[in-house]
Amino acid sequence: MRRWNVFEVGNHSLHFTNVGKLLKSLFIHWCSRESLKFLYLYDMKFKVFRGTFFWLMALVIGLFFLACDKQSPYPKVIDPEDNPITAEKVALGEKLFFDPRLSIDNTVSCASCHVPERAFTDGKVLSDGVNGKKSMRNAPSLVNVAYQPYFMFEGAIPNLERQSHVPIIDLNEMGYERISDLVDKLAAIEEYQVLAQKAFNMPFDVFVLTRALAAYERTLIQWDSPFDDFYFLQKPMDDQMRRGYQIFSEKLYCAACHKTPYFTDFGLHNNGFYDSLDWGRWRITGLEIDKGTFKTPSLKNMRLTAPYMHNGQLKTIDEVLDYYSKGGSGNPNQDKRIRPFQLSDEERRDLIYFLERI
Ligand code: HEC
Ligand code: HEC
Repeated sequence: MRRWNVFEVGNHSLHFTNVGKLLKSLFIHWCSRESLKFLYLYDMKFKVFRGTFFWLMALVIGLFFLACDKQSPYPKVIDPEDNPITAEKVALGEKLFFDPRLSIDNTVSCASCHVPERAFTDGKVLSDGVNGKKSMRNAPSLVNVAYQPYFMFEGAIPNLERQSHVPIIDLNEMGYERISDLVDKLAAIEEYQVLAQKAFNMPFDVFVLTRALAAYERTLIQWDSPFDDFYFLQKPMDDQMRRGYQIFSEKLYCAACHKTPYFTDFGLHNNGFYDSLDWGRWRITGLEIDKGTFKTPSLKNMRLTAPYMHNGQLKTIDEVLDYYSKGGSGNPNQDKRIRPFQLSDEERRDLIYFLERI
């Protein structure tokens, strides 16, 4: 599989020929991190950085760094105190993320379900795990997960370090009964021992596995959409996009939960989905009122992340708008803000045009 780097989501692909884009992406990434030691990452990822070009770029980037350190437009990623980011951890985490040996039968990697080109989703209603099994839910995007306060659709997991246990010991996903079985398998691989020593100065174990994966996931930052340029850099939107934004945030109520710039309020809400197979937050609290409550997903990269909702039930943006325009499903727990609405054909086109640019 082709490797991905933080600057290539969907068609935002980055080439040596497109220096402007490269600089912009570096700027964004840079301004979202706390420290200079991350420069090393780029050296690793981009062969173009070797030689004279590397030093030229380092100079330009140095200037960027000075510029954005004073007044960064982008939200900073705060790493947990016990897992500060280093390029070595990210390198190991990236390797693990793309390695199918993380599953019991060596067929499924994290990237099988979180495909970089699809903004780390997989385009399927439910994902394919080991032994022909299907995941219980639709795979969410991992772009900008670094900013999330908690994880999974019921919001029950407090950090990325703990989250990575879940797919590994899910018999429908990577298929291990115990995480220690996987750790024993990976610890026997020479290359992982070498990388563990480099990154953590200790032998490969569960601490190394989970810290490295989380460090890698915290590099999946993206703030370069047309909406981001408007929001962070005050670049004007084109007319159609502006009209779409107005519909999204003023005529309709979408921005109440899908708040800018993350396009989520990170809150737990019921937007009408309510079925006895998966009651979302209820699984944690057991409260009637939580039946059908899920964490609001970000709408970033929506043009790449279909099908939608925790169960992948809505296949296109049109289907999503049909669903909301009917006023959701009207189940008893549904959020009161979700009400029926009507859009003209032109308004619908404008709204979709906007949604494809966030
Ligand atoms: C078989 C498919 C599959 C595999 C393999 C898989 N995931 Fe996921 N991932 C999912 C699904 C489905 C969810 C939603 C689960 C839920 O909410 O219950 C998810 C959720 C997540 C989340 C939470 C995102 C959020 O917004 O709350 C993170 C982070 C994540 N996965 C990272 C990983 C990592 C790291 C690996 C590899 C160790 C991995 N996933 C392997 C399917 C998969
Ligand atoms: C009360 C809060 C709330 C409001 C208002 C709201 N949503 Fe949502 N939205 C959610 C929640 C919660 C989910 C996740 C539900 C699920 O997975 O079953 C969601 C999911 C989505 C998804 C699927 C995202 C994905 O990746 O699966 C889209 C698209 C979406 N909403 C668009 C909209 C639009 C467009 C509007 C305005 C018409 C809107 N939402 C209004 C809470 C809200």
